[in-house]
Amino acid sequence: MKSIHMACDHAGIELKETLRAHLEKMGYTVTDHGTYSKESCDYPVFAHALCNAVEAEDVPGILICGTGIGMSIAANRHKGIRAALCGCEFQARATRQHNNANVLCLGERVTGQGVALDIAELFLNTAFEG
Ligand code: RB5
Repeated sequence: MKSIHMACDHAGIELKETLRAHLEKMGYTVTDHGTYSKESCDYPVFAHALCNAVEAEDVPGILICGTGIGMSIAANRHKGIRAALCGCEFQARATRQHNNANVLCLGERVTGQGVALDIAELFLNTAFEG
């Protein structure tokens, strides 16, 4: 069974819902760390909850905010997290192959849903080259 953690702030909730459904169709068991509404919230709270789980379980995570920038800054404060903000498939492939990234950050206000789903698939299906 493939597992993944997801979290977002209020500016990333629509993409999180779409991507979660897509990943579940692909056979992933998704643990959703919130947020669960469009009410304004602090993105680091959700970034830290997800990163603690990724560090504990050694499974990948996806963080979404408006730009993806705040989530990536917060996530990379964790010793065991290598978070990559990706806006295209090339970055998604390269950060797995070269950086062994374990958290993908996406910006709902920046990246269209179709591209975001492709980025996530590539991120999850590409191995670290060592
Ligand atoms: C929320 O308005 C927005 O600032 C946040 O989602 C994120 O883009 C921060 O980096």
